[in-house]
Amino acid sequence: MTQSLTIRRPDDWHLHLRDGAMMEAVLPETARHFGRAIVMPNLVPPVVTGADAAAYRDRIMAALPADMRFEPLMTLYMTEDTDPADVRAAAQSGLIRAVKLYPAGATTNSASGVTDFDKITAVLDTMAEIGLPMCVHGEVTTPDVDIFDREAVFIDTVLDPLRRRHPHLRVVMEHITTQDGVDYVRDGGDTIGGTITTHHLIINRNHILVGGIRPHYYCLPVAKRETHRLALVDAATSGEASFFLGTDSAPHTDALKEQACGCAGVFSATNTMSCLAEVFEAAGALDRLEAFASRNGPAFYGLPVSDETLTLTKGDPVDYPAKIEGAADLVTVFDPGFPLHWSVS
Ligand code: DOR
Ligand code: ZN
Repeated sequence: MTQSLTIRRPDDWHLHLRDGAMMEAVLPETARHFGRAIVMPNLVPPVVTGADAAAYRDRIMAALPADMRFEPLMTLYMTEDTDPADVRAAAQSGLIRAVKLYPAGATTNSASGVTDFDKITAVLDTMAEIGLPMCVHGEVTTPDVDIFDREAVFIDTVLDPLRRRHPHLRVVMEHITTQDGVDYVRDGGDTIGGTITTHHLIINRNHILVGGIRPHYYCLPVAKRETHRLALVDAATSGEASFFLGTDSAPHTDALKEQACGCAGVFSATNTMSCLAEVFEAAGALDRLEAFASRNGPAFYGLPVSDETLTLTKGDPVDYPAKIEGAADLVTVFDPGFPLHWSVS
């Protein structure tokens, strides 16, 4: 039985770092293990221009502890007014690695997102031309679509028509949560990739709702039924190049999670690698963890695999904090519901 596993240093292809005091609190949790991360632009106000992204990148680097090496991969937040020339310049200078598309109203801080997809045609043409990926929050926001169906309906009514209009556009369908998402990415050729979060590999909707409501398991897209979780585990552990890790680690203070209308987001940066090792070991696929966490993402984004390594060792259950000190309050760390035996050394 494998007791130790060394892989290339992993990256996180979907991460929320926030800003200010919260960023200072959560950044080391990611930088401790991950070499790079695609940093989500849904700040308030959002990161919409190249200048915004440059300033945000400087704030992240200023907050990085001196003994840690970490490269933030910046993104722009797509609005109906996004300027193709600004996107082109920010991409060609190496500042940004993707543009994020939020359907307006889909999730936290998405009010400035896109309602009329025809208005972003010129930006998408530019992105397709220069090979800049679009990261997509794949849920429709139409009130009459059931929340558990919103990803599947998005694929049929928005994403697939959009990809047919822009066949050369590189797309990352982020945090896929359904068999439909897995199938769409798997069958979509080499212009589409899919990220999968740590928590969607571990929880299904029962974990949120059975025996009381568990606000720390609530995120968007919301976890679906068990058959979908199994499809995600199958995809992540398959080694297939289209699937890679994007934790969607999204800190909110306990006060904002534990209330009558709690906000969406699971904070998993702290224990993601230990959680993933358990999931991959249970699937008999420890040898494919490196593909999922360290190799497939850089390949999709056209970046080199890390030349550093990370070693996981199996032993007694790992101690990790239940909460970290966030901005003005605590942030609860994802509880997988089982002991974690793999520690990062
Ligand atoms: O659960 C989520 N939280 N899903 C998202 O798409 C956004 C994120 C956040 O920013 O908190
Ligand atoms: Zn996210």
